[in-house]
Amino acid sequence: MSDSPAWKEDFPIAWTDDHFVTRREFTKSLVLVSCASFVANASVATLEAFQEAPKVVFPAVRVATAGELPVGGSRVFHYPGPNEVCLLVRIGSERYVAYSQKCTHLGCPVHYQAEVRKLYCPCHEGFFNVDDGRVLAGPPPRPLAQIRLEKRGEELWAIGKTG
Ligand code: FES
Repeated sequence: MSDSPAWKEDFPIAWTDDHFVTRREFTKSLVLVSCASFVANASVATLEAFQEAPKVVFPAVRVATAGELPVGGSRVFHYPGPNEVCLLVRIGSERYVAYSQKCTHLGCPVHYQAEVRKLYCPCHEGFFNVDDGRVLAGPPPRPLAQIRLEKRGEELWAIGKTG
């Protein structure tokens, strides 16, 4: 019986031919691969951070003629697309505001309550400030999306959307 272990007889590979990888070499390659991966990810993140987000171009859509609504009146219109319902409110003789009618909680349509000067969502008693669309009460997590308006002569045009 020989002194060498049985596996050496089963796998008779000469020591010089063995491409033995030490734990240290393995650890080195792991560190190198990790560093390379980190550098690649950091490069991609940096490039994305400096890239400008694509600008959304909103159409200009005529929504009403000035004076068509009484002070305290409101009307629905669609902007920027035919499936997006918005609410135009005349809050003063020369002041109009417009918001997406979709509540930021679960999407129910909001309505204007002229007597309390608030936008109201009946689904869960949400209230929004009519001047800027911010949440006053209830579960909505964010202000209403605001529609930018422009007066062109006697006409009101929707020209953009924020939020
Ligand atoms: S959907 Fe408007 S408050 Fe819940």
